[in-house]
Amino acid sequence: MAKQKTVVPFQGTPEQEQQLREVIASYRDTQGALMPVLQKAQDIYGYLPIEVQTIIAEELGLSLEQVYQVVTFYSQFALNPTGKYRIAVCLGTACYVKGSQNILDELEKQLGIKAGGSTPDGLFTLEATRCLGCCGLAPVMMVNDEVYGRLTVKDVGDILAKYR
Ligand code: FES
Repeated sequence: MAKQKTVVPFQGTPEQEQQLREVIASYRDTQGALMPVLQKAQDIYGYLPIEVQTIIAEELGLSLEQVYQVVTFYSQFALNPTGKYRIAVCLGTACYVKGSQNILDELEKQLGIKAGGSTPDGLFTLEATRCLGCCGLAPVMMVNDEVYGRLTVKDVGDILAKYR
């Protein structure tokens, strides 16, 4: 899935950077250090902005491109912080045949982001997911823990308005 470039200004604290540098130091002589360092860095910051990738690249003696390739290859890593509201649109079979792709397209249009991305105001993260386990309500999406079923494209604007 295509990921978006970081759009939210980086706001890391000196404490976070110190934690990160300690993690890197503890892995410095370990082979295959990049993956565990990235995982720990994401635990510290919640995501992996370019600023953090740059520190990791410099400290591990890698190029930023090498680090970036790994970050963008594995879906467990995020380039943007997760929004306050996480929207998950089900693209499982039951939902898909009932038009959930249209719902996702409409959300992408109204939010101005692609699935996998977050809005610059930090409010929404949009994701496409597998079956959410409530196929009887297809097509389904969730906003955090709230389930919205039997959706039509027309519902999208009203649902977003509740969270804005
Ligand atoms: S396929 Fe969408 S909830 Fe099961």
